[in-house]
Amino acid sequence: MQIIHHIDAMSALGAQWRAAGESSAFVPTMGNLHEGHLSLVRQARGLAEHVVVSIFVNPLQFDRAADLDAYPRTLEDDLAALRAEGVDAVFVPDEAEMYPQGREAEPVLEVPGLEALMNTLEGERRPGHFPGVVTVVKKLFDIVAPDVAVFGEKDFQQLRVIQAMVAALGLPVRIVAGETRREDDGLAMSSRNNYLGEAERARAGTLYATLEGLRGRIRGAAPTAYPALCAEAERTLAAAGFRPEYVVVRRGADLAPPGEGDDDLRILAAAWLGPARLIDNIKV
Ligand code: PAF
Repeated sequence: MQIIHHIDAMSALGAQWRAAGESSAFVPTMGNLHEGHLSLVRQARGLAEHVVVSIFVNPLQFDRAADLDAYPRTLEDDLAALRAEGVDAVFVPDEAEMYPQGREAEPVLEVPGLEALMNTLEGERRPGHFPGVVTVVKKLFDIVAPDVAVFGEKDFQQLRVIQAMVAALGLPVRIVAGETRREDDGLAMSSRNNYLGEAERARAGTLYATLEGLRGRIRGAAPTAYPALCAEAERTLAAAGFRPEYVVVRRGADLAPPGEGDDDLRILAAAWLGPARLIDNIKV
């Protein structure tokens, strides 16, 4: 497994594969890898001849400095896990390599037509988050030049934003969605689960259970009834010790509020549990 720190070397490897007519699949990450990430890596292996994983904690997408500082960095363990998965190359740039003019001077990518999708839900609560994500992902796509890239459905809005960016800019990369991996109690795997204390972790499965309960009530209900059903789900979470930020039903394709006749629906939620801000979503 090649460990690559510099853009030139990563681009050269991608170009070499391309010249040889060999395909590559890419899994961008911020490290602190868990089974959720590794399942995306396994999926990537089935999609192309080579697999590249990037590990870069992107400062541009953090809305709170404390969150960036606290983000777990576990490079040696991550590299061992990726080696065991038979990954071809891991791209591990530092901040100066990705943002040579400094993060403040980095021009943030603006993609016309994505405003509604980027400014709702996570975008509304975390200003600057999605502009930071599209900026780094576009840059990574330019460097790695993959044929296909895999993104987890756990960050469902991010998946939709990336798909919309690729379509809007006409990028030559196919985006594939990876299913959310869950712990035995339903908690979606996430690096931020590490912030949960023992008592919080014991309750954390309530988030998924609440979304599942809501799904049962949504089925067969009219769209006008969704807000009251979502508010009830928020009260259930609050009673279990969460501080819910939102529980909503949206259209799966563009995350717009659903109307009569929309049948591709997604429930999305964000809630604090102690120091951890958890997000989750399920298809209705
Ligand atoms: O999902 C993530 O880990 C990040 O948002 C990503 C896609 C690697 C961009 O920094």
